[in-house]
Amino acid sequence: MEAAAPHDPAEPTPTANSVGLTVTSPEQMRELGRRLAKLLRAGDLVLLSGELGAGKTTLTRGLGEGLGVRGAVTSPTFVIARVHPSLGDGPPLVHVDAYRLSGGLDEMEDLDLDVSLPESVIVVEWGEGKVEELTEDRLQVVIHRAVGDTTDEVRQVTVTGLGGRWATTDLTVLSA
Ligand SMILES: Nc1ncnc2c1ncn2[C@@H]1O[C@H](COP(=O)(O)OP(=O)(O)OP(=O)(O)O)[C@@H](O)[C@H]1O
Ligand SMILES: [Mg+2]
Repeated sequence: MEAAAPHDPAEPTPTANSVGLTVTSPEQMRELGRRLAKLLRAGDLVLLSGELGAGKTTLTRGLGEGLGVRGAVTSPTFVIARVHPSLGDGPPLVHVDAYRLSGGLDEMEDLDLDVSLPESVIVVEWGEGKVEELTEDRLQVVIHRAVGDTTDEVRQVTVTGLGGRWATTDLTVLSA
């Protein structure tokens, strides 16, 4: 057996951990959210990407159900962020829709996301390039809609854990 090449200390330690899933209905997307909720705890940041109508809010609805929080998760029309307190003793869910925001965290200063993150699960739709500086540990969820047939309910979902927080988490449990 050949010995593995020694890790070059100049290289960053690889910590990405990724799983690809196929979701075939809105109900399955919610179920994925419920499963994802089991992996989450206070201090976790989840970034949801995907085009309009990909299913980001649908996934967040399942997350809210899985976390057991109060209030239905909806697509906010005017509200940028909504806090759903836990009905039990779990963390609250902070649901942010950054679609209308072009800037970064400075534009969301009033939300005090940095203050609430340690005791909350924060989920951000359209947050790419805007909220990463909150923490280097984050879960990146990318939802791709099958192109062409607009009636198609099939979505390709990639969940990637970044940073030490996710380095040893087995994300394949999401596809169970
Ligand atoms: N497999 C699927 N997963 C999720 N949603 C699906 C799926 N198939 C069809 N849909 C439908 O697509 C729509 C997804 O809407 P949703 O609000 O969750 O998207 P979104 O990504 O949050 O959009 P936006 O960018 O406008 O916030 C819903 O009407 C849902 O019923
Ligand atoms: Mg949405």
